[in-house]
Amino acid sequence: MDRRKFIRTIGGSGLVIAASGFSLSRCDQMPESAISPWSGPAPDLPDREWLLSYAILAPNPHNRQPWLADLSKDDEITLFADPERLLPHTDPFGRQVLIGHGTFLELLGIAAREKGYRTKITLFPNGEPAGDSLEIGTMPVARIQLEKDVSISTDPLFGDILNRRSNKEGYEKAYLNATDEQIIESLPLLDGQRTGIATNEADVSPLREFARLSVLKEIETPRTLLESVELTRIGATEIAANPDGIDLNGPLFWWLKRFNLMSKEKAMTPGTLAHQGGIDYAMGWVEGTYNMGWLSTADNSRSAQVNAGRSYVRLNLMATNAGIAIHPVSQVLQEYPEMQEIQSDFLDHLGIEAPETVQMFYRLGYQTNVSPSPRRKMPDIVIA
Ligand SMILES: Cc1cc2nc3c(=O)[nH]c(=O)nc-3n(C[C@H](O)[C@H](O)[C@H](O)COP(=O)(O)O)c2cc1C
Repeated sequence: MDRRKFIRTIGGSGLVIAASGFSLSRCDQMPESAISPWSGPAPDLPDREWLLSYAILAPNPHNRQPWLADLSKDDEITLFADPERLLPHTDPFGRQVLIGHGTFLELLGIAAREKGYRTKITLFPNGEPAGDSLEIGTMPVARIQLEKDVSISTDPLFGDILNRRSNKEGYEKAYLNATDEQIIESLPLLDGQRTGIATNEADVSPLREFARLSVLKEIETPRTLLESVELTRIGATEIAANPDGIDLNGPLFWWLKRFNLMSKEKAMTPGTLAHQGGIDYAMGWVEGTYNMGWLSTADNSRSAQVNAGRSYVRLNLMATNAGIAIHPVSQVLQEYPEMQEIQSDFLDHLGIEAPETVQMFYRLGYQTNVSPSPRRKMPDIVIA
């Protein structure tokens, strides 16, 4: 989260935290245990666990890390969605959760090549779950069969997995240069996928406005705001206990929590520092947006959703490699009733008609790299 925005808000409240003489820089650092998965796995880990250690670094909605891996059959991994880690309000049909399975599968496949495995990935081996319910947690999302193949080539994006980030800061005021625009446009697409990109003010301005309106709608809708608030981990202790969700740490948040200014109740109450801080933070990244892009699929089948994730994470890795920051901003794509009007205007603006579905909408730009986000430990997702 953009700490400068919060500091501005605090400035307005008259709260002086630096006056205490306390050494701010030492308290409430990101717990090492929450980011140690970003150091990569030990080389002697059994192969499937080694692959999974890369896959859990995938981008995923609200950082819920909703994956379960069944290792009960030799040379196979069966991937399930964790029914305890869905987002019923902002992702009522599990579309984003399944995109987050595509990102996981793609990283798994890239890591497998590095270890000399060919992967045979079968999506929904027992059939696709219905598209209009959250019943995605009962059937396997994918069966991954691993086959040693000495002739397999490694994937050049493997080296970017540990440095990949979703960069949620405001970006520099700059439109993508022609080379970087070409890199973003060179993403290899899977069947039925299309991408679009806006890299000048005339094209970005209306998209920025859709991002602004939709994030405000999410914040002013109590149950969608509550879903985020309940997943917010404030301070190192909470992050260490639950290395997922939305993480806020550092001296500033330590002090806000200490003065009871950052409680979940406060975050739900308009007019408080915590609630206004959330709005100011979002408006910070909205303003700091000079390039935007989107990825659509020809239909909204469950496989199309997973495949959107596979392509999106490749884009994220390509951007990392080129030093381009990227940040999904999904609010306008979310399927709850209050968002429908803004979403329909957004799709009209892009000229997209059902069944074509925009699966990912993102900011692109320039900004120094950010710290990694917390991750659960790889064994936490293994069920057998
Ligand atoms: C389908 C999908 C939707 C996402 N939507 C948002 C979003 O609306 N806002 C946001 O800040 N991040 C969004 N993200 C990024 C996640 O928050 C991010 O991947 C997660 O916090 C882990 O951080 P990391 O990508 O830096 O590892 C989305 C990611 C995925 C895969």
